[in-house]
Amino acid sequence: EGCALKRTAKNTVFADGVAGAPVMIVGEAPGADEDRLGKPFVGVSGQLMDRMFSAIGMSRDRDLYITNILFWRPPGNRTPTPQETQICLPFIRRQIELVNPEVLVTLGNPSTQGILGVSTGIMRTRGRWIDYDTGTRVIPAMPTFHPAYLLRSPAYKRLSWQDLRAIRKKLAEAVSS
Ligand code: URA
Repeated sequence: EGCALKRTAKNTVFADGVAGAPVMIVGEAPGADEDRLGKPFVGVSGQLMDRMFSAIGMSRDRDLYITNILFWRPPGNRTPTPQETQICLPFIRRQIELVNPEVLVTLGNPSTQGILGVSTGIMRTRGRWIDYDTGTRVIPAMPTFHPAYLLRSPAYKRLSWQDLRAIRKKLAEAVSS
């Protein structure tokens, strides 16, 4: 209720995927398609995201839990303000604790900076594991490019593929340990 974005959005976009998934993905905020359908990552960015994770053998109905740091679409898809992010942060933190994934993936700057508390941009933070402490457990988190950015700058898909392979490797290690 404390987030004014709720008043301009059509739907609350909470999450998709499976409870207990090994990988939790956190994006930025719903876009027009997500706002209309009430589900995260169902537009063109989401389709690219699905293809990226399917390249490492993962799907929404089996391996992924998908959400955003904001549950409502900012008008005109503007970047969320730091205040809007701060208001929603306790909810995403609790959600991470409850989903308790093996690996957390943050897509783009607002999600990476908001959740992982880093101030450097995604170009420098991507590709390196950062510990995320839920208070009861430390979860390895991988910041990587947002698919909307990859649609605009396809040359970075090569780096994104490195990040996906690192995620696949970390997961294989977690499952075998
Ligand atoms: N971009 C996001 O960050 N999240 C969505 O759900 C859709 C597009």
